[in-house]
Amino acid sequence: MYFCAKVTDLISWIGVNDRRTERFENYLPLPEGVTYNSYFIDDTRTCVIDAVEFGTEGNYFDRIENLLNGRQLDFLIINHMEPDHSGSIFDLTKLYPAMKVVGNKKTLEMIRCFHHKFDESKFMAVTEGEILDLGHHKLTFAMMPMVHWPESMATYDTTEKILFSNDAFGSFGAIDGGIFDDEIDVTKYEDEMRRYYSNIVGKFGIQVSNAIKKLSTLEIKYICPSHGILWRKDIARVIQFFDNWAKFIPDEEGVVIVYGSMYGNTARMAEALARDLSIFGVRNIKVYDASKVDASFIISDIWKYKGLFIGSTSHNNAVFPKIDPILSKLQNYGLKNKFLGIFGNMLWSGGGVRGIQSFADSLPGIEVIGEAIEVKGAPRREDFIRLENLARKMACKVLCKEIDSELTACANNSCSL
Ligand code: FEO
Repeated sequence: MYFCAKVTDLISWIGVNDRRTERFENYLPLPEGVTYNSYFIDDTRTCVIDAVEFGTEGNYFDRIENLLNGRQLDFLIINHMEPDHSGSIFDLTKLYPAMKVVGNKKTLEMIRCFHHKFDESKFMAVTEGEILDLGHHKLTFAMMPMVHWPESMATYDTTEKILFSNDAFGSFGAIDGGIFDDEIDVTKYEDEMRRYYSNIVGKFGIQVSNAIKKLSTLEIKYICPSHGILWRKDIARVIQFFDNWAKFIPDEEGVVIVYGSMYGNTARMAEALARDLSIFGVRNIKVYDASKVDASFIISDIWKYKGLFIGSTSHNNAVFPKIDPILSKLQNYGLKNKFLGIFGNMLWSGGGVRGIQSFADSLPGIEVIGEAIEVKGAPRREDFIRLENLARKMACKVLCKEIDSELTACANNSCSL
């Protein structure tokens, strides 16, 4: 689907809906698609903000030509050099030889890496707070280093109070007709925004907090990110989401249970934990078999909830191969502000539980609850009682209250024992 949509009288969304690409950055699944948002500003001097992924252009260039209506394109602002926004720079410079490519000095270093034939006389470097005067619209720039690349920046239209925030406040999910948050049910985009944030930007929480602090001084009537829908109704809510995620503050009470199991014993332990948590009053419980569900969805829910159980069988004296990449990513991102419970299974020398414990030891911001539970072979009655006690500790933590000691999950769950 390729269309133009008015953001305001003089600004158009000219992005691309990509429903074809299977995996973003060639590893994150896109069941709902993705957009590469690009914007056209109609003014005395014409301007495009952010381009689109190479190979997805469709009639992107024709739409720009229609909007120009015989005029030249004067500026292409590149807020971020990742190829999903910069892939069409080279074609645009060929179509509009007089056009200036606008970025900061780190942008140019990256253009040199990606586009070896780029004519640097076409580059215009801008700095923090500098004004680019289009005639009616006066644009300025806010550097956002490591949100999520070194050259990342935002463009702010001081005239119409629009923040072109690039990846910040972006989400997976193609646009299904409505481009603004007040034109659609935003639930899908909020989930896909968290998945986008946690998997792509999640390592850079401090830098995201700094960027939010900087942007909070601006009057913002629209947030126009480079992915997903545009925000004009619930701007404060979106900013709050990002601010919380940057600090690992959960969206809701709840617990994620993720496990890797070969013969079903670790899976049985996971199911028992889930049932116990439910009996103890936890309402949001997400159980994931890591062999079945892509890690990006699991990581997104780990950001969403405060409690986390990780379980692994032992595989060649180590963590199960489908759990290992999740631990590796969470470790790389410096996960914190979570309660963690550990469980698993072994037959001779173990390794699964030991691996999760090493992971937890490397993350000082994680609070491990209780003792790790490692079962040899199939779980027995006493193992289910230990699991119940661990679930009770987790429920106390995430619900911030004591659980009635008369309430025993095992009594309600006798057929598992
Ligand atoms: Fe949407 Fe970091 O590229």
